[in-house]
This record gives sequence, structure tokens and C-alpha cells, in this order.
Amino acid sequence: MTTDLSPLDVAAVRRDFPILNRPLETGRSRLGQLPVFLDSGASAQKPQCVIDKEREVEERYYANAYRGVYYFGARVDEELEAARQKVAQFIGAPQCESVIFTAGSTMSINMVARGWGSKFLHAGDEVLITEMEHHANIVPWQLICAERGARLRWLPINAERTLDMKMLDELLTPKTKLVAVTAMSNVLGTINPIDELTRRAHAVGAVIAVDAAQSVPHLKVDVTRSDIDFLSFSGHKLYGPSGVGVLYGRHELLTDMNPFMGGGHMIERVYKTHSTWSEPPAKFEAGTLPIVQAISLGTAIDYVNNVGLERIHAHEADLLAYAHRRLGEIPGLTIHGPRPEDKGAICSFTIANAHPEDLANLLDLRGVFVRHGHHCAMPLHDILGVPATVRASFAMYNTREEVDSLVAAIHAALEKLKRN
Ligand code: ALA
Repeated sequence: MTTDLSPLDVAAVRRDFPILNRPLETGRSRLGQLPVFLDSGASAQKPQCVIDKEREVEERYYANAYRGVYYFGARVDEELEAARQKVAQFIGAPQCESVIFTAGSTMSINMVARGWGSKFLHAGDEVLITEMEHHANIVPWQLICAERGARLRWLPINAERTLDMKMLDELLTPKTKLVAVTAMSNVLGTINPIDELTRRAHAVGAVIAVDAAQSVPHLKVDVTRSDIDFLSFSGHKLYGPSGVGVLYGRHELLTDMNPFMGGGHMIERVYKTHSTWSEPPAKFEAGTLPIVQAISLGTAIDYVNNVGLERIHAHEADLLAYAHRRLGEIPGLTIHGPRPEDKGAICSFTIANAHPEDLANLLDLRGVFVRHGHHCAMPLHDILGVPATVRASFAMYNTREEVDSLVAAIHAALEKLKRN
């Protein structure tokens, strides 16, 4: 981080997000209030420029992609390739051809598990994942390991709620063919040492697949500098549209692995007996892409770049430290995750004798929107020893005042639960 960074102008940022400035139209106690949106870890809100871009495509030049030579088709192709270029620059990819548009992180990870795993995993091989993974980075590996006779192994977390890196000596062996790890936990917020994991994976000849769904809105990633083999993320957590995501793959891996889906656009030549594949990225983009969404993801990336990831990170680090301090004042509240210095802008917590769902409902009545449940991370919750948590996740547009609103709403909820 640079030290002379001007602070983020959060008031200006908030003006760019129409949904944050629209008084709520529902509920007796929250009617007329502005929403306190603390669920960006599930899906971030969109700035006006992204909404405008979606509308621009629909109203001015929408057509299918990579099919028509007429003006609309050519314009869409141009816009899509510009968006691909923006994604490539954003993640430090050496070439645009390594950037595949998918439906989201889940599809991207399944593409690797199936496309790479069905060709390169064999009986007796091992895949190493961690105890803090989202189900999207667990289940695809369970499926492909079962199919290929490979073994799924788990890198544990420790009491500090970071990865137990000492266990790598035992778990990472020449049998390990792939390491799949989140860059930032969607529950704990833990930021994982991706560079070290990559180095260690490569030292035993394994490839590494990084789930960056939670990290990309908060932290700079550079797949080239970090030597990452596969990287996945979704548009909708990066202030872009839902329905679009990205898979980055090292070019030679994309060339060697199997396509994920068969269909139009991904073929070079189809014969009655067999087919041959297009070069990446087309090889992995069968069917019609989420055209409007992919183009508008490029606009979301422009927006993030203009605000500046370092500035966003500094603002969120301040919010996170403040949230830890204020939440820590609430009797009986446990924050599940490492100290703020080791994590991104997520606070998952439980409160003694208060059910997470009741809490989330009572917070909602005061216009404070949080997620509750297992957050698609059941094995992690088994380790935490709780079936569910309440999660407040922050984005560039959140403020200390909103943390205060969260804390006030929790106090009010606890009062209400005590009376019942
Ligand atoms: N993966 C998203 C979350 O953590 C949906 O909420």
C-alpha cells in the first residue's frame, strides 16, 4: 500500500449508487429510511454507469456475439473484446485469450474441475482444498475426485482462523495434482497467502486454482506476478451484473484441457464422426454469452479502477477495524475470523442466545441488511461449532455511520429478544 493515498470520497461514491439513495418503500419501522446495505459479499450494488451501460447495449446495438457482420453484431464483438481486455489488465493476465467469460465463479470452477480434472486426474492422485472453502470450491472437486478415483484432502484452519500452513509439509506431496483455494474466505474474511501456496504447489508439480470471488473487489491480484494457473471470479460481487463471471487460465493449460460444454462457437470443425475445437477462449464459450453483462462488467472494472483498489482497500480496512471495535463492545458477541489486519471487509458473528435468523430479521426491520446462515460453507461452520452466523460484509460505499446503525440495530434486537 502506498502511504500518501488520498482518502476515498465515500459521499461521492455513494452518489453513484442509486439504490443507496432511494428511501425504502416497505415496512412500518423502516419506511422512508435509506437502506444500510451490508451484504456486498453476496452481491454488490451497481453504480449508475454500469446500469447505464447495460441500457446502452440493449437500446443501441444489441445483437448476438461473434456471429453477425452487420453493424450491431460488429459493435457487440468490439465491446466484448474491449471488456475482455479490461478484465485481462485488471488481473494482470499476459493475454486476452486467457480470459474466458462464464456465468460466474461457480461455473468457472466447475470448468476447471471437469475440463482439467477429467483429463489430468487419475486414480491415486490428490486434490488439496482448504477447510474455509465455499461449497462452489468443494463440491466440484468431490464430484471429479469420485469420478476419477482421486483423493480429496483438506488443509485445516487454526485457532486464529487462518490456514494452518505447517500442515502443507504433510499434505502437499508429489501425489498432489491440484490445489484449490480461496483468496479470501466468504465467512471469516481471511486473506490467504496465495503467493506462498502457489510456490509450494508448483514445487511439487501441482497446478493451483484460486477462487477470487470475494477478493477481487477488495485486493489487487496479478496472475502473472503471482504465477497463478487458474483464477475465478464473478461480475456481481465486483459492482457488475450477475450472470457473468471470469475464468483466467494459463494459456497452455487451456489449450491442453478438455472443453467444458459442447455447442456453437467452441468448435473449429464438426464432422459426423467427431469435432475439433477452437482456440481459447472460444473453446470454452459454447452457446450465447451473457453479452450485455460481460460488456457491462468492463464498465464496472473501469469504475473500480477510477476509484482505485488501494483507496478502496484503505477505506474498507478502516471500516473493518471500526466494526471489530464496535461489535466487540456487544456482550456475548463472537466474531468468527482472524484479527482485522489478516482479513478483508467481512465480519461474521454469533451472539449467545440469539438465533442468527432472528437477528437478521430484526435487523431488517430497522433497514439493516445482512446475510445469515451457513453462507455455503458448511464444513467451515462445523469447525466453528455453530450451524449459522450473521455476516456483515462491506464495500467501498459503506460508512462508519452504517456500522453504528448495525450496532444500534443489534442492541435493539437483543432487547426485543430478551422481552420475548
Ligand atoms: N458466495 C456468496 C456469499 O458468500 C453468495 O454470500
